[in-house]
Amino acid sequence: MTKPKVFVARRVPEEGLNALRAVCDVDVWPDQLPPPADELLRRVKDCDGLVSLLTDRVDAALLDAAPRLKVVSNFAVGFNNVDVPACTARGVCVGNTPGALTDATADIAVTLLLTAARRIGESAADAKEGRWLTWEPLGWLGSDLAGRTLGIVGMGRIGFATAKRLHGGWGMKVLYTARGPKADADHALGATRVELDELLARSDFVSVHADLNPSTKGLFSAAQFKKMKRTAVFVNTSRGPLVDQSALADALRSGTIFAAGLDVTDPEPLPTDHELYKLPNCTIVPHIASATIETRNAMARLCANNLLAGVRGEPLPNWVNP
Ligand code: DGY
Repeated sequence: MTKPKVFVARRVPEEGLNALRAVCDVDVWPDQLPPPADELLRRVKDCDGLVSLLTDRVDAALLDAAPRLKVVSNFAVGFNNVDVPACTARGVCVGNTPGALTDATADIAVTLLLTAARRIGESAADAKEGRWLTWEPLGWLGSDLAGRTLGIVGMGRIGFATAKRLHGGWGMKVLYTARGPKADADHALGATRVELDELLARSDFVSVHADLNPSTKGLFSAAQFKKMKRTAVFVNTSRGPLVDQSALADALRSGTIFAAGLDVTDPEPLPTDHELYKLPNCTIVPHIASATIETRNAMARLCANNLLAGVRGEPLPNWVNP
């Protein structure tokens, strides 16, 4: 019997690849950079399954070029790179990797929040580049976290894990936005659901965890930054397009808000001459929230399980479009 054919759009941890190789004929894109769109289309055209990354656009054109495709297993929890309705219309299952990266992403949200609040990027650069002249009573002053108010925009799994760390560790009061009430956050963290405007006005720290969809694209523009405290720290570990980056740069430059920490930008990578890099109160890391060995291994396992279920015609363990 011929094995199902699978294209994996980048090298992912071996344990995922080995699980696939045990059952499928696996073609792995070997380069560091993603396959160009035409190459992706060429590689996938006679495949039963595709392992895609958030850098790979899975759209109607690709699906039409791959009539045998049964499953797209996205190596990410976010799946805005996949045209899910187009997949559903063609009977193609879509899977993702929720849960696996919750803790790692919450850790990065907290890291960015501390980094921005305590001016770590700026002060470390000053030390390295000879601007550390003495111990300065008024130098590199940041802000405390203890007892302050945290605003979580999007109280899903990652928002909750972030709030849990900051409430438990620093006694922060938690406000959040969500489509509906979140009893676990209310009970475990004493959190309060509010409208976005109220969250922005009352929070000392704003951490974004909402997914990218038409209603959240550009959610943070000049008007939103103006509603925040001048001492506010803004952190985004969700998706870059939620933020109007020129408005954020203006807000950071003018002192409308205090500092920002970004794991995600638009585009990615952010060009090295981008104005945000020039601001000492903005820390940017290259979308590393899920970048731990344990997390990437777990994502590879989930991804392989989704893919194998899809080629067998079974329900996907993490199924986006059942
Ligand atoms: C995801 O899985 O959506 C993350 O952004 C990857 O780190």
